[in-house]
Amino acid sequence: MYYPVFRARRLRETETFRRMVRETRLSVDQLISPLFVAHGRELRREISSMPGQFQLSVDELVREVKDVAALGIPAVMLFGLPASKDAYGSEAYAADGIIQQAIRAIKDTVSDLVVITDVCLCEYTSHGHCGVVEQGRVKNDATLELLARTAVSHAEAGADMVAPSDMMDGRVSALRESLDDNGFEEVPILAYAAKYASVFYGPFRHAADSAPQFGDRRSYQMDPANSDEALREVGLDIEEGADVVMVKPALAFLDVISRVKAEFGVPVAAYNVSGEYAMIKAAGRLGWLDEERAVMEVLTAIRRAGADLILTYFAKDAARILSERR
Ligand code: PBG
Repeated sequence: MYYPVFRARRLRETETFRRMVRETRLSVDQLISPLFVAHGRELRREISSMPGQFQLSVDELVREVKDVAALGIPAVMLFGLPASKDAYGSEAYAADGIIQQAIRAIKDTVSDLVVITDVCLCEYTSHGHCGVVEQGRVKNDATLELLARTAVSHAEAGADMVAPSDMMDGRVSALRESLDDNGFEEVPILAYAAKYASVFYGPFRHAADSAPQFGDRRSYQMDPANSDEALREVGLDIEEGADVVMVKPALAFLDVISRVKAEFGVPVAAYNVSGEYAMIKAAGRLGWLDEERAVMEVLTAIRRAGADLILTYFAKDAARILSERR
């Protein structure tokens, strides 16, 4: 059937028609809000490269998550800024570390909000790498034990889900085994399965003070040129016990999201990362584009590509926009 029998514009004519035939839906249920927590009290320090995002002390974090929950957002992802850093990132797995305190405080006040924790060492190590460094190299197997300890300490504090973002080989099995051994067989793993060595993490490293002090992360994070390799990474993580797999960043990797969803059919998350946030914010502030429309177009595109869940610093904005549309 073709023109003039078929006219594509007929069903584009009114908003009601467009609403009826819309293929992709974005819902607040699919959003996860990433938050940064730091030591101190009444601390709410805006991150200069991420306007509208803050480093929050635990008391402020509790206020923030109440807002997040009130908007209907089901989950947060926590990142911590430790009091001090060392070669082995020991605050990452300290019982009274910043994340462990934050989890307890959230669970005490907004207990039904899902608390997901980022499991990595880079915010906690003096060298800023995601693992143990020996002779200038990031050691895979020595790192696994520290990651597993971190995940267990988060679960002990009450985390609902743990999310390893380090890209060491074998970390999903290491976490699964340690969680199970410690009685946390019910705690799911969201694996940053296809995490690329991306320039778009720039503002995050500033926010979390986690830039590597030498070299870069290309010996563990993926080459942005590869997508067959992403399928292999995702497949391995699923075999090792990942419950949700993540592709990160989102926008330059929509094809990867799409391939992963088509190939595996498991819950897929996508991380709309700090640099993606910063670009829209900057252009919006300069009056170069309409921020609200840009946010919704991008989040819808990530859904259309196949993501079930989206981690985004725009979560609160999107939740507000979605509720105004009803
Ligand atoms: C830690 C981690 C990073 C991000 C999430 N977890 C930074 C990195 O790998 O350097 C980036 C998130 C963002 O840019 O929003 N490994």
